[in-house]
Amino acid sequence: MGYVKDRFKEIADQKSQEIKELIAQHGTRKIGDVTLAQVYQGMRGITGLVTETSLLDSDEGIRFRGYSIPELRAQLPKSEGGSEPLPEGLFYLMLTGEIPSLEDVDHLSATWARRSHVPNHVFAVIESLPSSTHPMTQFCVAILSLQTESKFAKAYHEGISKKEHWSYVYEDAMTLIARLPRIAAYIYRRKYKNGDHIQPDGMLDWSANFAHMLGYNDEGFRELMRLYLTIHADHEGGNVSAHATHLVGSALSDPYLAFTAGMTGLAGPLHGLANQEVIRWIEELQQNIGTLEPSKEQISEYIKKTLSEGKVVPGYGHAVLRKTDPRFTAQMEFAKKHCPEDPVVKTVWNVYDVAPAILEATGKIKNPWPNVDAHSGSLLKHYGLIEEDFYTVLFGVSRALGVLASLCWDRALGFPLERPKSITTEWAKQFVSESATAE
Ligand SMILES: CC(C)(COP(=O)(O)OP(=O)(O)OC[C@H]1O[C@@H](n2cnc3c(N)ncnc32)[C@H](O)[C@@H]1OP(=O)(O)O)[C@@H](O)C(=O)NCCC(=O)NCCS
Repeated sequence: MGYVKDRFKEIADQKSQEIKELIAQHGTRKIGDVTLAQVYQGMRGITGLVTETSLLDSDEGIRFRGYSIPELRAQLPKSEGGSEPLPEGLFYLMLTGEIPSLEDVDHLSATWARRSHVPNHVFAVIESLPSSTHPMTQFCVAILSLQTESKFAKAYHEGISKKEHWSYVYEDAMTLIARLPRIAAYIYRRKYKNGDHIQPDGMLDWSANFAHMLGYNDEGFRELMRLYLTIHADHEGGNVSAHATHLVGSALSDPYLAFTAGMTGLAGPLHGLANQEVIRWIEELQQNIGTLEPSKEQISEYIKKTLSEGKVVPGYGHAVLRKTDPRFTAQMEFAKKHCPEDPVVKTVWNVYDVAPAILEATGKIKNPWPNVDAHSGSLLKHYGLIEEDFYTVLFGVSRALGVLASLCWDRALGFPLERPKSITTEWAKQFVSESATAE
């Protein structure tokens, strides 16, 4: 076993013991009530999951193992001469709860580089799809076809003890993370660069190698990838991609199957696809007004027009957050340093100046503030990655870090099959009339 795996096992065993004691002593304590409205309205605010990797506060935003994004940007190891955190470090932190050393991060970079070889049949499966297929569909199909490599599925079939599940899931998670950049880059070069593929460079860190395979060797873009792949990795457990991965994994479907479920969820416009929608919306706005730099008044009018057409303003609002997303702020800081004069970036900032008040004035939107997706596309465009259909794939490569670290935890803690209770409206009506009679 690699030393990171040994360390993870040691920490997970301790946590497992703590959880046993917690449940034995306090297992009957109530942590909330559930209303009928919550059951109908997307289960908002119902606590029903344990996800160790990160926790979301509605005002403060995400904390990964207790660390906020500014703290991570300061404390996680960086590449030589770089100033953004290496996502390898965040993965280590999510897995173990400990801030890694530069050696730990180098160890992960090297492990993933060693495991990054993608079998030929995966490329053949991608090639069998029309190149017009949405990149997220190609990505999901490719991950599913990589399932042939699952060590967990093979071991389970041969018969293993429940105590060993975590070990095979860990191996699958590491291999899958190692291979995703190559798969994503292959899809990108196939669809947008005439199939002119670029071989991986095993000497680079995970993000820089990904940037290299996409065809972007600018140091600024590498830094953007390191930041991007760090901040999109996890957002506690209830969001669609994390929850879907966790749910499907709870059936002991292997990490390839479980992660594909997460990615099909990420491909939805109310979740990960919003980053592509934001940039389309900004371009439509620019075309509509006939200028690359619309004024705040023009932007305000366009926001009102979008709302009056019954559409959402993409990149704004959140199911849990109630303030500006710190992932938006981190990207804004990056843009201030690297590309403050970019017209799309400036438009993103102008939208930020006017949209919250307009959204607030509708009286129904609970969070008028921007989320992560409101900024990401403008930065990618700045460096020349202009194909917005591809943006959600980048999000997906990052999201693998969080949801697969969580899947390791799920199996290490022996979490059971997830199976909440559902009701019918007939049941609800009867429940209400019986409660009224009882009162
Ligand atoms: C993220 C999102 C799905 C959260 O949904 P939610 O938890 O149901 O949000 P709310 O409780 O604030 O929704 C209340 C109402 O406001 C609307 N609303 C929320 N955000 C809105 C936005 N950005 N633009 C227009 N209307 C919005 C909802 O559609 C809903 O309308 P309805 O009552 O007519 O159905 C929602 O804010 C949204 O669609 N945002 C745009 C897409 C996006 O940026 N997604 C990425 C999320 S990280």
